[in-house]
Amino acid sequence: MINIALAKGRLGEKTYSMMAAAGFDCPAILEKNRKLTFENPEKGVRYFWVKPSDVAIYVERGAADVGVCGKDILLEYDPDLYELLDLGIGKCRMCVAGPKDFYDNEERTLRVATKFSNVARTYYESIGRDIDIIKLNGSIEIAPLLGLSDVIFDIVETGGTLRENNLEVLQEVVPVSARLVCNKVSFQFKHEEIIRLRDGLSNIVKSGEEVQTIKLEH
Ligand code: PRP
Repeated sequence: MINIALAKGRLGEKTYSMMAAAGFDCPAILEKNRKLTFENPEKGVRYFWVKPSDVAIYVERGAADVGVCGKDILLEYDPDLYELLDLGIGKCRMCVAGPKDFYDNEERTLRVATKFSNVARTYYESIGRDIDIIKLNGSIEIAPLLGLSDVIFDIVETGGTLRENNLEVLQEVVPVSARLVCNKVSFQFKHEEIIRLRDGLSNIVKSGEEVQTIKLEH
């Protein structure tokens, strides 16, 4: 049985839809109930929902054999696991953004609000800019509006949140997409099953066909 951590929300729905299309469906997940794990012994899979930012922790510690999470999380936490495949979904960009008229006075320390303090620190070190990180857990866009920070370092998908708050991308830093990740011990002991799952997903990615997203209760 492969244990699969799904990220609650749209990414998890897209992930499950791709897994089902690859032959790893689990009808129990479609039922309306309060169960937390769903399995299909015939296909050798057990799914469970977790917070998107926790997928890598479940996989790193072996509570899940595999999972799907954003490259942003992998860059930030650098978990000890294998990255097996770029699923080509959940695409966005990690960016520096700020007010439209932002001028960077290099004589001052730049105040940067972000959920991704490690990635931000590495980026600003690479360009030799002095910064003060303000670590937040969400609603990052509000920080420059209230004068808490000069800029933000965050993921941008449609750009809608920035636009609606009169902010704009100042610098694109790294593209992000969802990755199939795997526990290192599981990769050894459940090698065949995991490779079968990876290859099934890889064929879907290569085919370029868009998989219809299945709406799920979670
Ligand atoms: C993310 C990100 C931005 C927004 C970008 O936030 O931090 O706020 O999505 O998406 P957009 O470019 O399509 O507008 P999320 O929805 O994860 O919520 P959060 O603010 O609680 O982190």
